[in-house]
Amino acid sequence: MASFCSPSSDSLGGKAKLAHALLLGAAIAASAAAAAYYGRLRRWRTRVVGIIPARFASTRFEGKPLVQILGKPMIQRTWERAKLASTLDSVVVATDDERIAECCRGFGADVIMTSESCKNGTERCNEALQKLEKDYDIVVNIQGDEPLIEPDIIDGIVRALQGAPDAVFSTAVTSLKPGDGLDPNRVKCVVDNNGYAIYFSRGLIPFNKSGQVNPNFPYLLHLGIQSYDAKFLRIYPQLPSTPLQLEEDLEQLKVLENGYKMKVIRVNHDAHGVDAPEDVKKIEDLMRERNIS
Ligand SMILES: *[C@@H]1O[C@H](CO)[C@@H](O)[C@H](O)[C@H]1NC(C)=O
Ligand SMILES: *[C@@H]1O[C@H](CO)[C@@H](O)[C@H](O)[C@H]1NC(C)=O
Repeated sequence: MASFCSPSSDSLGGKAKLAHALLLGAAIAASAAAAAYYGRLRRWRTRVVGIIPARFASTRFEGKPLVQILGKPMIQRTWERAKLASTLDSVVVATDDERIAECCRGFGADVIMTSESCKNGTERCNEALQKLEKDYDIVVNIQGDEPLIEPDIIDGIVRALQGAPDAVFSTAVTSLKPGDGLDPNRVKCVVDNNGYAIYFSRGLIPFNKSGQVNPNFPYLLHLGIQSYDAKFLRIYPQLPSTPLQLEEDLEQLKVLENGYKMKVIRVNHDAHGVDAPEDVKKIEDLMRERNIS
């Protein structure tokens, strides 16, 4: 087989570390205030780990995490973005594949080997969490196929979960393009006045009585990134499936149907996931256009 990985080494330098330290100081001050406010909570959710689940086998795109995107493996691009998030104490790649592990160690990532039997990214995050040496309060599941994920979005969902002690899950939405209103692969979301998720659907929600997409309504598109309370992550894969989850084929509905709360933040983000080989060229064109190297 050809060489799968040619990591590039221009990684993070001292500047990012300094910024991290400064932000950490601010975060400590802020979380101290919050801890005083929520005095009855024994421990504030301050310890945060970002996990990038990555598997080699895929029916649609074999070896996807290692595909080169403008000269760097996709997983490296995702990792570099995640490392810029100031709320993460550490970032680890969780994989069952030695080729991916070797590649990631090559560019400096921490790697946790997980079993081949993990059925999905959430399960892999959970297994990785159990194997980590340190304890964490929040786990961010960072999809390896979003190489342009903004560190701000990661920080945003972490802070949202830290600021909502009654929520066990947080995620992000962005505005839905009206043309995507009736596309079942674009998952829509509706939220309450306090920013908690009410429902997710592959159908158009809310549904205008005209039967058409209302060009004036601010519909919300769900983005794949999510973070969990670490205790909740332990039970999440084992929670029984629920009727709406099964009918919509949307995992996150299991959270709501089982009565848990989910905090949702709104962000500006064009989703640029890489699902199929043909998406690579699209994302490279976009990066050239935006001068991202
Ligand atoms: C439905 O959509 C139309 C535009 O397509 C809009 O004028 C109307 O206010 C929306 N809401 C209702 C309740 O009809
Ligand atoms: C992941 O896979 C497990 C086992 O098949 C399943 O119970 C669970 O609902 C799936 N999704 C999540 C988010 O845990």
